[in-house]
Amino acid sequence: MAEPFHDRTLPADRGERYAVLAQEMASVLVGEPNIVARMATITAMLAASFPHFFWTGFYMVDPERPDSLVIGPYQGTLGCLRIAFGRGVCGTAAMTGRTQIVPDVHAFPGHIACDSRSASEIVVPAFDGSGRLIAVLDVDSTMPAAFDELDGRWLEAILSATFGAGD
Ligand code: SME
Repeated sequence: MAEPFHDRTLPADRGERYAVLAQEMASVLVGEPNIVARMATITAMLAASFPHFFWTGFYMVDPERPDSLVIGPYQGTLGCLRIAFGRGVCGTAAMTGRTQIVPDVHAFPGHIACDSRSASEIVVPAFDGSGRLIAVLDVDSTMPAAFDELDGRWLEAILSATFGAGD
């Protein structure tokens, strides 16, 4: 029997780990067009590959209320259900369309604390093949300053390959 996904051996180097994971994601998702299935799979694979990812998940642009993000697939403790564009780290990423790396969430104006144990976070916007914002990916850690530009570049590449490539 194949070893369980979460027990597989991964490179210690973070960049190499992302590279392995990006390839695995591409092969697991091939031929699956459903957006929620893709988001749920990305979330589970990221959370299983980086033990310091305390909360990993998507806030989706709500088609009924396009100024509002609504919770999507996630792994972690109970998350807030809705976040308005412009509010907190997720709302800022959605409004600006730019990745937000926050080394200390307590120093971020308007940060929304869904779980007070989160110390740092990264939020990366996800665009479809036409460049339209569809969601943001939020990853929180209990460690301060857990994320840097390397995480930003890899998560942007993973989201672009998953939602922007028109698979
Ligand atoms: N901290 C986020 C809210 C979402 S949760 O942490 C799951 C923010 O400020 O946007």
